[in-house]
Amino acid sequence: MSKLKSPNSFSSLVEARYRDGQSTSRSLPNHLPAALETILTHKSFRSFLPKSLPAGTLEALLAAAQSGSTSSMLQTWDVIAIQDPAHKSAAAKLAGDQDFIREAPLFLVFCANLNRAANISRAHHQPALALANMDMFLMACIDAAIAAEALGLGICYVGAVRNHAQQMCELLNLPANTFALFGMAVGVEDTASYAEVKPRLPMGEVCHREVWSEENQEGNVKAFDAALGSFYFQQLKLGRKSWSEFVAANLASGEQDGRQNVKDVLYKQSFKLE
Ligand SMILES: Cc1cc2nc3c(=O)[nH]c(=O)nc-3n(C[C@H](O)[C@H](O)[C@H](O)COP(=O)(O)O)c2cc1C
Repeated sequence: MSKLKSPNSFSSLVEARYRDGQSTSRSLPNHLPAALETILTHKSFRSFLPKSLPAGTLEALLAAAQSGSTSSMLQTWDVIAIQDPAHKSAAAKLAGDQDFIREAPLFLVFCANLNRAANISRAHHQPALALANMDMFLMACIDAAIAAEALGLGICYVGAVRNHAQQMCELLNLPANTFALFGMAVGVEDTASYAEVKPRLPMGEVCHREVWSEENQEGNVKAFDAALGSFYFQQLKLGRKSWSEFVAANLASGEQDGRQNVKDVLYKQSFKLE
């Protein structure tokens, strides 16, 4: 195993992620691969320098993305790489009109793709009855993954590609059995935007030992409200709701910026979800 690539210790990276003052009571390995440091120091970037990407970036990202596990070796996802400024701007408009998508030199839209399997089944005179199963769609969603940050680039995922799902299908010319799941803006990060990593729920809240337990949930959520509050305070993002207030407000309405229509669009795209 290689050593950490920066002077940060494993324990200080974990403490920065949880902000729970437990760094001395955690027993962590001394050495860990550089890839783990990349993951532990992840943050979303929503501000990109007006620089193009080094040659070969897209190919490197694709090779990394395709190296991930894939359910039953079916390879049921594809990606649309958008670089043309006018096309990117049209996609950004549908995806919550988020300017960082326009700023990023590359916008990747990850799609579930059961159409290749449908075409192959047809060519082999097989009925492809499994395509109607909800699990096939889940499989395609789960398989769509990437490792862009390992190249030292700034990225931000974009779930808002589902805000106007039907129009997004039309803009990207998506055939039946395909659907845009999420986007990823990729660019040279503007490190001036912010420096700290955003904290996460305590490990003990998301990791259940042997069986499910919600015993400490109230205390864990309270502790996380405080940790995220201190992060926002340091970032001078004042007057924000606590995390738990944000979660409750976020789910309060059935309207989700248009995403409540996702099921209808999936049906239109011939996903049966049985
Ligand atoms: C699938 C997915 C979709 C997301 N969609 C958006 C988005 O549309 N706009 C945005 O600004 N951030 C989006 N994010 C980024 C999250 O807001 C961000 O990961 C979260 O606030 C944690 O911050 P961090 O990534 O800096 O640690 C998305 C993240 C994921 C995983």
